[in-house]
Amino acid sequence: MQTAHIGDFALGQSTLLRDRMAQVLPHWNDDVPGYGYVLGMHAFGLEETGLYARAEDTGRRALELNRRDPWAVHAVAHVMEMQGRIGDGIEWLTSRAPDWSIDNGLAFHNWWHLALHHLEFGEHARVLEIYDTRIRPAPTSVALEMVDASAMLWRLSLRGVDVGTRWQALAAAWAPLADDGYYAFNDVHAMFALVGAGDWAGVERVTGSLQRAAQETGTNGMMSRDVGLPLARAIAAFGRGQYAEAMNTLLPVRASVHRFGGSHAQRDVVQLTLLEAALRAGKAAQARALAAERTDLKRTSPLNWRLTARALESQGRADDAKRARDTADLHAAAQRTPRTATREAA
Ligand SMILES: [Fe+2]
Repeated sequence: MQTAHIGDFALGQSTLLRDRMAQVLPHWNDDVPGYGYVLGMHAFGLEETGLYARAEDTGRRALELNRRDPWAVHAVAHVMEMQGRIGDGIEWLTSRAPDWSIDNGLAFHNWWHLALHHLEFGEHARVLEIYDTRIRPAPTSVALEMVDASAMLWRLSLRGVDVGTRWQALAAAWAPLADDGYYAFNDVHAMFALVGAGDWAGVERVTGSLQRAAQETGTNGMMSRDVGLPLARAIAAFGRGQYAEAMNTLLPVRASVHRFGGSHAQRDVVQLTLLEAALRAGKAAQARALAAERTDLKRTSPLNWRLTARALESQGRADDAKRARDTADLHAAAQRTPRTATREAA
């Protein structure tokens, strides 16, 4: 079941993340060993299909049976991420860290989720500290870890944060995989690192791998053709400062990104890149529209309100921009006291 669950995840089959677990629920109960893990997987599927309240309840129930299940912790962390409950998310992950962070292969990813919350608050030094000590403490060649490292550095770079030589170290770890063309989701994350490091020869290699894969008839052929290759081209254009081209390349593919797998939270890096490209290209109306999508979906996110403020500034609407910035500050202040962030507020 776990293998199928991870398969559904990698294939972008959100509804099956949920429904495959629902198929077996009638055959399990508290008396059967492993029931907590089934609930933890079901919780993640519920979250990825937007059923947040049920996801959180199910995840919490899973943890009552087995508080050390990192996937159930992760499912609830996703709920908090999607609902913009930043204070709750930090509290959730830090208070339970002894349960999920010790001797566990998924720990780097739950640390990545914690870093996402700190990113919302603009606490970049803390994000880099988590990156250095928890997400990328050693130069491993584990693709899952490199994916999270690449995405986090890219998100920091979108905010103009100088990440030092971290890009070079990460790009060097991706380099041996650059010709594989095995999974478009990974290739796109390799592209973040190679572009970040300014390794243009590496960028060409990954682009070539995606082009070859795009000719194939299998699942990764579809992913590379429909999602991976356009994203890779957009990321490279962004890295070269060709922001209008990056934006125009991302616009037609933004609604299909789920087809190459991963979670909503992971794929949001694509939408953030699109919005940043629009801002840097001076496409104020598009940036404003994209920012409006984000604030509508996640009203308590300081980041979304700051992006809105930048878009309004590019439109020459200084007063509205100031109001958006004040809203960002209000939400950040309210959420720094975790108890004030409730489900209702989200
Ligand atoms: Fe996740």
